[in-house]
Amino acid sequence: MRKIAVGLLGLGNVGAGVVKLLEDNAEAIGHRLGGASIDLRRVVVRELKKPRLVDIDPALLTTDPSKVISDPEIKIVIELVGGETEARRFVLEAIAAGKHVVTANKALLATHGDELFAAAAKRGVDLYYEASVGGGVPIIRALREGLASDRIDELIGIVNGTSNFLLTAMTEEGRPFDEVLKEAQAKGYAEADPSLDVDGVDAAHKLCVLVPLCFGTSIKLEDVLVDGLRHLTPTDLHFSDRFGYVIKSLVIAKDHGDSLEARVHPTMIPKRFLLASVSGVYNAIYVSSYALGHSLYYGRGAGMMPTAVAVISDLIEVSRNLLGSASGGAPLRLQAPALKRSSKRIRQAGELLSRYYLRFSVDDRPGVLGQLARVLGEQAISISEVVQERHAEGRPASVIMTTHVAKEQDMQAALALINALPVSAEPARLIRIYE
Ligand SMILES: NC(=O)c1ccc[n+]([C@@H]2O[C@H](COP(=O)([O-])OP(=O)(O)OC[C@H]3O[C@@H](n4cnc5c(N)ncnc54)[C@H](OP(=O)(O)O)[C@@H]3O)[C@@H](O)[C@H]2O)c1
Repeated sequence: MRKIAVGLLGLGNVGAGVVKLLEDNAEAIGHRLGGASIDLRRVVVRELKKPRLVDIDPALLTTDPSKVISDPEIKIVIELVGGETEARRFVLEAIAAGKHVVTANKALLATHGDELFAAAAKRGVDLYYEASVGGGVPIIRALREGLASDRIDELIGIVNGTSNFLLTAMTEEGRPFDEVLKEAQAKGYAEADPSLDVDGVDAAHKLCVLVPLCFGTSIKLEDVLVDGLRHLTPTDLHFSDRFGYVIKSLVIAKDHGDSLEARVHPTMIPKRFLLASVSGVYNAIYVSSYALGHSLYYGRGAGMMPTAVAVISDLIEVSRNLLGSASGGAPLRLQAPALKRSSKRIRQAGELLSRYYLRFSVDDRPGVLGQLARVLGEQAISISEVVQERHAEGRPASVIMTTHVAKEQDMQAALALINALPVSAEPARLIRIYE
């Protein structure tokens, strides 16, 4: 029976899931490899004595990455250490040693993807990354293979489970962000340092992985408009509901022909839109393409076992390539020339178009609404709906508006002017609306 020697870098959450699933499903995996088997040779960790989430033969563990990278028998390296610096070095060294690589590391791909894919193509090895977006949801394979003949126009997704969990709790329970975050941290659903998740950076990394697959143009984190959840309040969630919307943290990528837009932000979406009912830690990615139309990819976007499913699906595909002496290299991302940043212009944040929800806290006296409308009108922003709420005597009133489509730079200019008005009691709140 043919054995494929594999080395694993990292035995944390995902690494432990990979070891467990390789054991639990060894027979089925063997069938899918036509009788061959995966032979896990070495597992690299930082601390040998640390308790592990899975039973593992201690003789497999090492703290020396060269025991994997320089072992000529190991054909596939799975990178699950996370982070950028060491992971980049390990992956480049593994590629240089002629090994195929499987990774779940979206931060690494978003930051160094062009370099790594170019190195893999040059060395003629595969670099697979299904687990980097959507956890167990096979979105990379769907874009790369299922939709290979189609032309993607737009992708909209909920790709950060922590943000979606927090937003779901805020929406359903009407509680403030800080309180919901503390509880999620206590239960282990959010990291002690939640910034990557709640400030939209993790989702933006994932968008940087998805955009080249959709549109053939690589983008950088600084090309993406990124906004997080911290400024959302129960009041805004209440009005969102009243206007017929649900707030979701979305990644949005759209092809405008000559240019692309890429953004991540809390977004008000109509309650009838499929993504509005995706709650808790679930992920969902909604793709619009020329021939298929709309398609939806939904499931568990993180966690030990769902993510292991994606990692091992890559491992099986690379193993099949090895067994068939083929390389999956060419279709993994579009070929290098298509990745040139000049192939499609990325729209600047100020150029983006959206409808907006706005909430102003202003002095409760005649003429104030007129001042707000005048500033918005001067910036070419047209109002769609207005609700005014008076509070107790002496307290500022709330003016809530939705607008028709406007340009981001005009909106930011208008808000700067309104915030500087003597009648403004607090900075205006803004949430973008997606229809
Ligand atoms: N967790 C998820 O649900 C999920 C979902 C999708 C993608 N991912 C991605 O999967 C990757 C792994 O995530 P994770 O949650 O499994 O991380 P984790 O629990 O922090 O595990 C990281 C592992 O890497 C080892 N490690 C870190 N630096 C190392 C170094 N310099 N040398 C040797 N070993 C090193 C650690 O060793 P010690 O255990 O000895 O400290 C640990 O076993 C990340 O890129 C993450 O973004 C995770």
